[in-house]
Order: sequence, then C-alpha cells, then structure tokens
Amino acid sequence: MKRILVTGGAGFIGSHVIKLLVEKYPNYQLVNLDSLSYAGNLNNLTSVQAAPNYSFVKGDICDASLVKKLFKEHRFDTVVHLAAESHVDRSIEDPLHFARTNVMGTLTLLQEARLAWEGDFSGKLFYHISTDEVFGSLSHEGYFDESTAYDPHSPYSASKASSDHFVRAFYDTYQLPIVISNCSNNYGPNQFPEKLIPLCINNICNGKPLPIYGDGSNVRDWLYVEDHARAIDVVLHRGKIGETYAIGGDNEYSNLALVKLLIEVTDALLGNPIGHSESLIQFVTDRKGHDYRYAIDASKIKRELNWSPSLDFEQGLRATVQWYLEHPEWVKAVVSGAYQDYYDKMYKH
Ligand code: NAD
Ligand code: DAU
Repeated sequence: MKRILVTGGAGFIGSHVIKLLVEKYPNYQLVNLDSLSYAGNLNNLTSVQAAPNYSFVKGDICDASLVKKLFKEHRFDTVVHLAAESHVDRSIEDPLHFARTNVMGTLTLLQEARLAWEGDFSGKLFYHISTDEVFGSLSHEGYFDESTAYDPHSPYSASKASSDHFVRAFYDTYQLPIVISNCSNNYGPNQFPEKLIPLCINNICNGKPLPIYGDGSNVRDWLYVEDHARAIDVVLHRGKIGETYAIGGDNEYSNLALVKLLIEVTDALLGNPIGHSESLIQFVTDRKGHDYRYAIDASKIKRELNWSPSLDFEQGLRATVQWYLEHPEWVKAVVSGAYQDYYDKMYKH
C-alpha cells in the first residue's frame, strides 16, 4: 500500500503513469495534482477517473499552502513529480515561467515533503522525473549516462537542471529520500501537437508544412511513452534512494530521417501513394541554441532494475500514428483549446 501524490498527471507522460499505477495497484491511493495548463488534459484520464483509488485536484505545485493541506489530508508517503513546463520553444519565449514552475514548483514540493515527513523518513520517497536535456549536447559520438556532467543550454533544460540540483541538495542536506530519472525524448498517444512527432502527424493529415529546424541533422533518442511509464514504475518500486537512473530507447534518429519515416507510415495508413507528403517538408530557421544530439546509455536501469524498452520504433510509431488518426476530436480539441472546458463539465456541478 502506498499513498502517492502524482504531479502533472494530466499531461502527456503523467497520464500514462497514472493509468499504469491506478490499474496495476488497486490497493494504492493516488492523488493527481495538476494545474491544467494548456498541456494538462483530463480527457487523457477518462478510463480511470471513476476508479476508487484515484482522485484529481486542480492546483498549482507552487501553492505551498495547498500542497501542505494535501499532505495533511492524504498522508502521502510518496511523491512522483512530473509537473513541469516541458516545451523548449516556449521556454525560449518565456524563461521566467519555466523557472517558476520547474524550479520554484519543485522546491515547494520538496519543502512540503520535508516538513510533512520530518522526523520519520522511513518508507518515504520523493521521485523526481527529469530529462536528458540537463546533460547538454553530444557530438556524433558518445552517450549520456548517470555520471555525465550537467551542461544545460535552453531555459527549459536549465530549469530542469536546477530542479535536479535542488532535489539532490535536499538529499545531501536533510537526507530527504529521493530518486531521479533522466529520460530521453518520449513519443506516443496524448502528446500535445506542438512536439515534433504529433505536430508532423497532424500536419500530414491536414496537408500543412512540416517545419524542420536547420538542416534536420539534429539527433534524438526516442522512447515510447508506455515504456517510460514502465521505467517509472520500476524506479518507484526498486530504485535505490539517492540514485539517478538514465532512461532511453536505444533509438537514435535524425529529425529529417524521422520525419521521412513518419511520412511513410502516415501516408500508408491514410492510403496515400508512396512519397505523397514529402513535398510538405520545409526547412525553417533553426531553434536558438539547438542541441545537436541526445543519446542515452541506459545500461544501469537495464542491469540493476531489469527494465528495457519493449516496442521497436517502427511499431511504436505506427501505433502512435494510428492513435492520432483514430482520435481527430482529441487533436481538434487541444489545438483549439476546447478541452479546457472538460474540467468544468466533469468536476464543477
Ligand atoms: P506535459 O507538458 O505534457 O505535461 C505537464 C503537466 O504538468 C501538464 O498536465 C500541466 O498541466 C502540468 N503543470 C504545468 N505547470 C503546473 C503547475 N504549476 N502546477 C501543477 N501542474 C502543472 O509534459 P510531459 O511531456 O508529460 O513531461 C512530464 C515530465 O517529464 C516533465 O517534468 C518533463 O520535464 C519530463 N520529461 C519529458 C520528456 C518528453 O519527451 N516529453 C522526456 C523526459 C522527461
Ligand atoms: O530529451 C527529452 C526532451 O524531449 C524533454 O525533456 C522535453 O520535455 C521534450 O519536449 C523533448 O524536447 P525536444 O526539444 O527534443 O522535443 P521537440 O519535439 O520539441 O523537438 C524534437 C526535435 O525536433 C528537436 O531537435 C527540435 C526539432 N523540431 C521540433 C519542432 C517542434 C523541428 O525540427 N521542428 C519542429 O517544429
């Protein structure tokens, strides 16, 4: 039995984590704290919204009195912290907002967990979900692993790096039981269509341009979101306190190669002739400070916690494209912002 505060559970990865934990552990109690920013969508959670071991609270992780009240009411022994501003391009436009949510929000949660658990840290865990972007940029060779020095470049990755440092500082200073994982790029159902993969699927479906930053040679290491959720499950249950786990898909693609594969898969599923949507590719001005390559050496989590990615990329990509094609109403609602009414309909009577 665990009493878990999950933050950011209405977002892309958080909603897959909530579904996995609610379904797999009926004896746990999970509270999902999410402010329902533009990226938070309760439509992602309809399959579990009535489950007796799940409840939702709309609120901000920076709101210390709310977090304190929730700790008091629910006597959490575990925090699984995913809430964040997550999109690099938005961080370039509005870095302060990223510092507020990602740094001050994490610090608020750490402080309230410490105060609530003070005097008895046994059986407690603060699990911070982070990103491989804190490690900076690789050239053609090499991999990030748990020993890689931090070298963030974008305001997003700087804010995540800062939050990781605060998490570790609470371990070193107060012995707050923490664990951190740093994961590579996720893809799959329910990802907001500002990120490269869902953006391109949506644009192929609508015959719109596929914007490729720079020359498309930047490389990312892609992992199916449900594989990440399984990794979070194993770190949550078997991760060693004070440790970091690097998580990745062993699956590097340049952006251009990825978009070409997406075109192939999407055109085939739409019944379009081979190469039909290639003309939509448009090379555009590069992202400022664009990291060249991310790639993870995930041997620690594989060796110590017996986790590995389950889906091969083409299989995962096909499943993802299929999901988007079958859920045009989901895409339409998030693009138009109409999904924001869902909370009022479901929770306010
Ligand atoms: P997302 O943007 O889809 O979801 C973020 C969620 O956090 C949303 O539901 C949003 O409403 C909520 N949120 C934002 N600000 C909040 C606040 N102040 N208070 C409460 N809730 C708030 O993000 P995602 O892609 O699901 O990423 C989840 C976590 O995983 C983030 O911490 C991110 O840094 C990390 N991560 C993401 C990836 C990826 O590829 N997407 C990879 C590695 C790590
Ligand atoms: O590596 C983990 C990170 O992956 C997470 O921490 C972030 O939250 C998540 O957003 C993701 O960051 P990226 O910046 O790598 O993802 P994005 O989908 O925005 O971009 C993927 C690559 O595609 C990147 O090299 C930029 C490029 N790109 C992106 C967009 C949106 C384009 O070429 N065109 C685009 O329109």
